[in-house]
Formats: sequence, structure tokens, C-alpha cells
Amino acid sequence: MSLSPQFLDELRSRTLLSALVGKSVKLERAGREFRACCPFHNEKSPSFYVNDDKAFYHCFGCGAHGDAIRFLTDHKGLPFIDAVKELAAAAGMEVPAADPRAAEKAERASGLHDAMEEAARWFTEQLHGIAGAEARAYLAKRGVDAATQAAFGFGFAPDSRGKLKAALARFGDDKLVEAGLLIAVDGKEPYDRFRGRLMIPIRDARGRTIAFGGRIIGAGEPKYLNSPETPLFDKGRTLFNIDKAAAATRKTGRVIVVEGYMDVVALAQAGLGEAVAPLGTALTEGQLERLWRMAETPVLCFDGDAAGQKAAIRAALRALPMIEPGRTLRFATLPAGQDPDDLVRAGGPAAMEAVLEAAEPLVERLWKYELGAAPLDTPEARAGMRKRLADHAGTIRHGDVRGQYLADFRRRFDSLYERTPPARFQPGGGGRRGGIFQRGKPPEAPPSAATRTISSGGVTPLVGRAVLAGLLRHPQVIADQAEAVAALPLPDPALANLRNAMLDAAFGSDALDSQALGTILAQVGLAGAMETLRAPNGLAFSFLRGNAESGRARRDLAAAIEALAARPELDAALATVTARLMASPDEAGFAEQRRLRAARDEADQALAKLAAGEDDAGL
Ligand code: UTP
Ligand code: MN
Repeated sequence: MSLSPQFLDELRSRTLLSALVGKSVKLERAGREFRACCPFHNEKSPSFYVNDDKAFYHCFGCGAHGDAIRFLTDHKGLPFIDAVKELAAAAGMEVPAADPRAAEKAERASGLHDAMEEAARWFTEQLHGIAGAEARAYLAKRGVDAATQAAFGFGFAPDSRGKLKAALARFGDDKLVEAGLLIAVDGKEPYDRFRGRLMIPIRDARGRTIAFGGRIIGAGEPKYLNSPETPLFDKGRTLFNIDKAAAATRKTGRVIVVEGYMDVVALAQAGLGEAVAPLGTALTEGQLERLWRMAETPVLCFDGDAAGQKAAIRAALRALPMIEPGRTLRFATLPAGQDPDDLVRAGGPAAMEAVLEAAEPLVERLWKYELGAAPLDTPEARAGMRKRLADHAGTIRHGDVRGQYLADFRRRFDSLYERTPPARFQPGGGGRRGGIFQRGKPPEAPPSAATRTISSGGVTPLVGRAVLAGLLRHPQVIADQAEAVAALPLPDPALANLRNAMLDAAFGSDALDSQALGTILAQVGLAGAMETLRAPNGLAFSFLRGNAESGRARRDLAAAIEALAARPELDAALATVTARLMASPDEAGFAEQRRLRAARDEADQALAKLAAGEDDAGL
């Protein structure tokens, strides 16, 4: 469905954002705006602002930003179109009908929804009727209490080929087949799909039943029978309990992924309402996307046995390409042979909390997996492990995160063989954060011509190229400065590519020399890109000169990388404080702005001095 910009504007202007947000977040008036603790990240003091005039919200803490529609999609987890519909209904507006084919599809889907609701109601009725005695006893034996049964809509499909079909006859066989409730085999009368099973409705984000999982009562095969894919049910895009979990996640900020329906049910009964499960398959990309709309770091729970751990790695590898800042996973390991249902039954919610508490970050999980994959008693085995780690990191699409993974793996690898990492990257060891750009001392010299060009920003690509050329000459610096190299702002994708390949190469082998690096880069098809580095650029960096003393060249190169890598962070901080000042000017804000400007000027000046080939760049 395509909606006109005019319609969406009208919708936004008829929605009072503070009223909408205020339904789920406690707002406090602050001048012309409203303020609250941000619902998108955990915080104790409010940095989330809602501005009704501008019709947007903004969090100065985590950067969450958007309008009413965005609030519903990001905060409540609604699909775009559902967010529009909800706002339109509240504003008394009619959502324009899309093209007739889409309208027809919507109409048919709505018929299917009715059939599914009716089926769910009928199954529940059966559970509480005479035929449901065995199913009720089974639920009682498993300790599912009445409130939980009602909340999840448990039901029972009697052991019959035609009872549901008769009860829902008003929908007609075709509709019931399309809904997956009846099975039609060529030439035969359609008959009930679910027979003699405990029925668990699978609902969409709005709580509508779109499919069923049917569990055999007691032992037998198959244990679960699920609805087939239908116009309502796209297995790879939905998650069991997404509707109720989304609401719980808003309170706890966390979402838990477990393997089974009954795990979700048991956790909910134990007070952990924010659990979901895939529909009997490995997590798909669509499901991961969905989870990330609910929380930054979903926690995946897997059995501690070999099969569970293999499944965890599969999920990790599937997620890797998609991770970004603020989009990752953690992995919790259950005691071998126990699922969350067993766990909370034996140890209550505290046992599950302990497992969640111990969840490992994605990077840790990958590292441990490769570390344990094979003995590392030969150089070949160690190099092989390093290559596998580099290959995993190489699948990450986000450039900076990829660089950080490589740097992180390298640090872990180095500490394994007790090669001390460079001091500046040790915690509290005077890295970039505590370094030269934070001292807040004013720039000393009047800005030179070179400083002016550099701070105009336009020269950054040129400096970036010079730095890469320097790294080609002095490859040791790549590993020593891996984090800063990964953070270099390189707007030209060809340069960014080259940088990433350099990080990969430096990661893959120790004591890389210039010639070896050149060979590796040529092997991965970057000979042309390397050639562009040789073009003259008018900059006199010591590390570009063949005759420079190499200690100094390396020092200057490291300093230039740090200065360049510091820019985006400083620019972003400046933009944030400036935006805040525009909304509400205050002294502290101006002081912060001055401090950041000075730091940025200092970084630029250091670069300019280095670029001019000056001996003492004040570092
Ligand atoms: P489990 O066997 O772990 O399910 O399968 P469970 O929820 O713990 O079931 P109980 O406790 O024995 O009742 C995990 C999930 O795999 C899917 C279901 O989604 C199930 O919840 N599955 C399993 C099927 O789709 N079909 C099957 O035959 C088995
Ligand atoms: Mn189970």
C-alpha cells in the first residue's frame, strides 16, 4: 500500500505526539517540551524530549528520534501500516484504500482472520468440554495454571475428521482450507487438520490468531503439528508470543528467545513475560529484524548440549552480517538437557535469571567456539583459527563494527600468546578518550593556511588517502592502531574497502612488511585502489617520505590516524550539543560546545602540522 506524503503529514499534524507518547511513558513538562526517561534505552535521568510543535521526539542519550508513526513502529513494534491505521483511527481519518487488488487481498485476509478467531474460540470451548478432559489433565500435570491457559488461549482439537469443519461450516471449505484448518487432498472431502491435539494459538503483533501449534497429548509423533504457511502466516517473519512479549519488553528493555512454545508459556507463568520462540525452525533474518525492533540486544537461550551449542553458533553466524552499533545479540547457555520450562519448574524464575545474567556477548561466543573447535598446538592450527575468526568478522556488513571485531579478535589472540597489546588500548591506558583531544587546552598558534583547509573538512579524503599510503609503507601501525584505523572516516567506498582489506591482512599475519601487504592487497583485487594512493597529494607527512627516520614516521602516522579518527566522534558530539542549545540555551551547554570546538581545532591543528611535515606536531 502506498500512502501519499500529504496524507501522512495530515496524520502527523492531527496527532498530539505528547498524548501518544504519554500513554506509555511518564512525561514531565519542561518549557515548551516534555521530558522523560528514554523508553528506548535504560537511563536514570531524563534525556528524552517530546516536542509537539515540531511533532518529533528526540533522545540526547541514545539518539532515538522520530515522529508519531516511528514511535509506534519502534516502541510498540507495530508494522508501519498498522501504526498508520492506529493513528488514523484515533484522529478520525480514513486510510485511503490502496489499489483494488490490495484491497481484495485485505478483504480475503479479514475473512481468514474471522475464521481463525472462530477456530481458536471453538478449540477453547472443546478444552473445557467433555472431550477435553484428557487435555486438561495433561495441562494440569505440566503445571500450566488457569490464568496462563487463558492468556495464551490454549484449546483442544478433538480426535475427529469433521467436527471443526462442521462447527465452522459458515465459512465454507475453501476458506477453511486456505486458513490451514482443513486439509484438502485431491478429489477427497477436506477434513480437519488438527485431531486429538492440545492447541496453542500463534498470534501476530496485534494479538490476532494467525496459526496454531498442536501438541500431541503425551508421547507420539510428530510432537507438534503446525499450521501450514497461509496468507496470514509467514513462518519466517513471526515469533510465538510476539504480541505479549512486546508489551513486557517495553517494561524490562529485554527480549528472550527460547526454542519451544512450552518454554515461552512456562517463563510467562514464572513472571518472565518477554520471551518469544521461532516456529520450530532456526532463527531467520526476518525474525532477527523483528527482535531488533524490540530491543538492542536480544538474549538467545540454547541448551548446553552439543546440539544446542551448534544451534547457537548457527544463529550467531546468521546474525553477524546484520549487526551494527546498537544491534547485537547475547547468548545464554542452559544447563545441558534442560529447557527453560524444566529450569523454572525446578528453580523458579531466579534460576532463569541466573542463566540470563551469565549471557555472553556475540564476540565472546564466536571466540570461544573457535578456540574450542580444534587443538591449537601447531602454528598451522593457530593460523587456521585466526583465519576463521577473520572470515567471520569479514561477513559483518557494518564497516566500523567489522573493524572492531577484527581488533577485538586480535587482542584476544595476542593475549592468548602473551604478546602485550599497545599501551594506549589498555583500559585506562591513555587511549584516544583520555588523550590529547580531551585536555581542553586552547589552540596555541593562529590557524595556518593548512589548518584552515583541513578544518574546512574538504581535505579529509585527501588526508585519509595519505594515511592509507602511510599504512602501506608502515604496516606495523595497522595492528597497533587497529581500533583507530577501523574508525577512520573514509567517505570514499574504495578507500574504505582498502582500509578493511588492510585490517584483514594485518590481522591474518604478524610482522607484515610493506611488500607482503602489497601482495596480499593485490591478491584480493585491490591493485588499482593501491595505485591511486601513489598519486601526489601535496601533503608533506613524514610517513610519505622515503628518507624519513622510521620511528618518527610511525609516530607521526599513529598521531595522524588518531587525529583523523577523533573527528567523527567530535563532530557528532558537537552536533548534539548544538541541537540542544538551539532548543534550550544554557551556560553549561555553551561551555561544552566551546570545549568540543577547542578539541576539534586541536585535532585539526595537529593534523595540519603533521601534513606540513613539521618536526614537532605538539604530540
Ligand atoms: P521442543 O521439543 O523443545 O518443544 O521443540 P517444547 O516446547 O519444549 O515441547 P514440550 O516441552 O516437549 O511440550 C521446540 C520447538 O520446535 C517445534 C515447536 O515450535 C517446539 O516448541 N517443533 C518441535 C515442531 O514444530 N514440531 C515438532 O515435532 C517438534
Ligand atoms: Mn519442553
